[in-house]
Amino acid sequence: MFQSKIAGTGMYVPANVFTNQDMMKFMDTSDEWIQERTGIKERHFAHRTDETTTTMGVEAAKIAIERAGITPQDIDFIVFATLSPDYYFPGCGVLLQRAMQMKEIGALDVRNQCSGFVYALSVADQFIKTGMYKNILVVGAEKHSFGLDFSTRGRNVSVIFGDGAGAVVLQPTEDAGRGILSTHLHSDGNNAEILAMYNPGTHANHWSKETKLADFNDGEMGDMFMSHAMIDNAQNFPNMDGPSVFKVAVEKFPQVIMEALKANGLDTSDLRLLIPHQANLRISQFVQKKLGLRDDQVHNNIQRYGNTTAASVPIALCEAWEQGKIKEGDLVCLAAFGSGFTWASALLRW
Ligand code: ACO
Repeated sequence: MFQSKIAGTGMYVPANVFTNQDMMKFMDTSDEWIQERTGIKERHFAHRTDETTTTMGVEAAKIAIERAGITPQDIDFIVFATLSPDYYFPGCGVLLQRAMQMKEIGALDVRNQCSGFVYALSVADQFIKTGMYKNILVVGAEKHSFGLDFSTRGRNVSVIFGDGAGAVVLQPTEDAGRGILSTHLHSDGNNAEILAMYNPGTHANHWSKETKLADFNDGEMGDMFMSHAMIDNAQNFPNMDGPSVFKVAVEKFPQVIMEALKANGLDTSDLRLLIPHQANLRISQFVQKKLGLRDDQVHNNIQRYGNTTAASVPIALCEAWEQGKIKEGDLVCLAAFGSGFTWASALLRW
């Protein structure tokens, strides 16, 4: 059995920087409120027409692939995590495969929101361990600047999110004790609606167990994923009960980090770097305090990028590596928590 190692990382954020002051032009908010509650100063927003979730993923992938010393034609599997795909279907994986002129390889999309990248990495890790694939591209990318309510009505959600992409190439290594040591995945669907975007979706469908096709009159069939009424009633935006999310996040983050360390007979003092999903600086600070980690053991960059959901962990990982914070032999923990709720961790020996 092989272990998988990260052979290359890449990231991409759009050129357009959107500050808290820019946000104030659209809604009743303030730089002080946003920084105090979330830590965010600015985020990057994609070009409205020229940049999509896939194009950003491609830019990050190009860098990761080059750093791994291979070409796009060497990639033998794609796992693409996003909640803001270019199309409702097909997913971004195939669009990236086309854009990068890759072979007719498998492409899988993962929809696990903020923990999407760690879930995607875990899937890729299993394929490497079994010897099935040798060069897997794992991407997390989001274009949040589409689909948020930038009026005062949506301010509790809209000020938090940003656009961007991160990618890694996973390869097998025979170097025992190196690479991905373990991954840990969890979910609890009891609170699915606390952080959710309900539309477009099929939840309003009036089919029940007893309904038969013959029960419908002419003109009654043909329910829509998206209707004029949904848009008129602002039901096409994400919903979040922020305080409830905070409460569960600060419980599950430390749990899943400790689970990863304990599974490998290690402790927080062994950790060179914790890379938490950049949900909110206050959440990361709470987790750091609870685990007794020093400032230099936690990488935060939400101040400059906002919360980029599935892209936040690979962007932070790439940035930390570029800044020389991760060196050969270092123990790194990736951890995420988000909508679902889902939460996950991956422990790596670099
Ligand atoms: N600017 C100014 N005022 C605002 C804004 C804004 N952007 N958003 C909300 N407010 C107001 C509200 O209207 C409310 O006013 P009121 O008291 O007059 O009614 C007041 O601020 C407090 O509103 P709350 O929603 O209770 O705000 P809270 O103090 O809980 O802060 C926040 C909101 C930052 C989202 C907080 O709940 C939090 O940190 N939650 C954690 C969830 C999180 O970080 N999610 C990130 C995405 S999910 C993920 O990645 C896991």
